Amino acid sequence: RRAPGRPRLSPVRLSSTGAATQRAPGREEADSKVSSWKKTFPEVQAERLEQAQRTVLINCPAKISEKKFLKYLSHHGKINSHYFYESYGTYAVVEFSEKDSIASLQDITRTPGIEEECAVPFKSRLFTLTLKNSSIQAADQAPVHCHKQSTILVNDLVQKLCSADSVSNQLYTLMDEYQLTEENTKLRFLACSLIQEIACAYFPECTVKPFGSSVNTFGKLGCDLDMFLDLDEIERSPTRTKIGPFYMEYQMKRVPSQRIASQRILSVIGDCIDNFGPGCVGVQKILNARCPLVRFSHQPTGFQCDLTTNNRVAMRSSELLYIYGSLDSRVRALVFSVRCWARAHGITSTIPGPWITNFSLTMMALFFLQKRTPPIIPTLDQLKDLADAEDKHIVEGHDCTFASNVNKIKPTENTETLDVLLSDFFEYFGNFAFNKNSINIRKGKEQNKPEPSPLYIQNPFEQALNISKNVNQSQLDRFVALARECAWILQQEDKGHSSLSNSQPWGLAALLLPSVASNCVKGKKRRKGPTSERIKSLLDSLKINNANSLVNNGGK
Ligand code: GTP
Ligand code: MG
Repeated sequence: RRAPGRPRLSPVRLSSTGAATQRAPGREEADSKVSSWKKTFPEVQAERLEQAQRTVLINCPAKISEKKFLKYLSHHGKINSHYFYESYGTYAVVEFSEKDSIASLQDITRTPGIEEECAVPFKSRLFTLTLKNSSIQAADQAPVHCHKQSTILVNDLVQKLCSADSVSNQLYTLMDEYQLTEENTKLRFLACSLIQEIACAYFPECTVKPFGSSVNTFGKLGCDLDMFLDLDEIERSPTRTKIGPFYMEYQMKRVPSQRIASQRILSVIGDCIDNFGPGCVGVQKILNARCPLVRFSHQPTGFQCDLTTNNRVAMRSSELLYIYGSLDSRVRALVFSVRCWARAHGITSTIPGPWITNFSLTMMALFFLQKRTPPIIPTLDQLKDLADAEDKHIVEGHDCTFASNVNKIKPTENTETLDVLLSDFFEYFGNFAFNKNSINIRKGKEQNKPEPSPLYIQNPFEQALNISKNVNQSQLDRFVALARECAWILQQEDKGHSSLSNSQPWGLAALLLPSVASNCVKGKKRRKGPTSERIKSLLDSLKINNANSLVNNGGK
């Protein structure tokens, strides 16, 4: 059932965020190989944002001649790429080669003639295409091929995982199924670009950029879209001219704090999105949150969006995670699997509450990878030492400096397989001294907790903050109990002691089953660490010997 990973070719693939990553599927193969060149985070962002500006989104009939559709649009300019997907109807994403093509398309587009309602005349890059004589045109037409925008069901995933040939390949299979596709990433940048058009009504030089899991290489199909309204370019002053005896300064409204400025800006942009944004529904202004935001659903793309501003530290966190995710193929594979496992058991949730977040889980996985011998990824302090002058970033007094060029970071010598890493991850956190230690990816070492929160994960940039302050003791206990259970399951399988028959889920697939959590609830506490493992084996063998001696003595 679990043949050791067969060596396979390792194709260099372009990840959904633009970084080339090399897949290292097999046990024999060095998992640490990386591809030759990787784009920096700002390069990926700039390229994708520019591409999004040349792209339009068209709601069209499901049954349409793709050829005629493309011919019709190519009257306005060369089309670089296109694809279809479903979200409250069929949509086409069409990327033109030149931005001018959009103006040409807008010139021939009419405003809707609605009989009972009235349209707000805001012209965007979101269109509806209808057939002139639909009954004739659509009659013998097959529906267009739509790209998937969501993950497969957990049951189907479990089946797929069972046909992999090693735990390591199970992790890569899961990542392949869950990660953002090239099309989905394009759509995320397009949604930001459409919101930017609205925000530009107030701030013509602003940009709206995705951050968080949409761009940090850990995004799963269907994850929310975190948007950052960037007004910094507007605020940046030109270098002061020495010519002439005067300085010129803009007169600007003054408010008591940056937070109040953010709240006011988001309040009007939120209203604008609500009133004029085509396809934007359920707009909520959550302005009293620690980081004020506007939440809404963008129906044409199907994304749940969180728009924030003045959130540069989160942007740096996303870049840092992008770097870690691009360094070694095992990083993303492990994080995807741990996140999926946590979601399957309700350790993480889409509802805010005392649960561990995906962001915290990712930090835990990164910390664990820093603690391997030799380490699989560098500490944040080591990345800071590699930084050059351009990498220096101080955001609101917080040092957010680290090397942004992945190519400058030496690949690890560590060749451990994901089979070992997954099992050790659960063992490590099943035994971690959460009561006294904190997790710190800056130092790559556990440290004394500065305050008694059950789980303390130091914010890598705002160093006085704990990113998991929300987590309560019972949620942490659940995580620890499940981690121990999973470490035990994997160790048993490794020793060939698995009680499961061949047809049953094994490896990562077994860890995703609800029975894992119910075993924990039943109070089957897995004792700590390898020592207790040894004691357990000893007890088991004693039990067998006892039983044998009872049987042997029975006849006497
Ligand atoms: P998903 O669960 O897939 O959305 O993961 P995510 O990484 O996008 O998380 P989320 O949408 O909750 O947050 C978006 C980004 O905000 C994260 O990637 C972080 O950069 C940042 N962030 C989230 N939570 C915290 C936190 O507790 N503290 C700090 N400092 N930043 C956070
Ligand atoms: Mg997110």
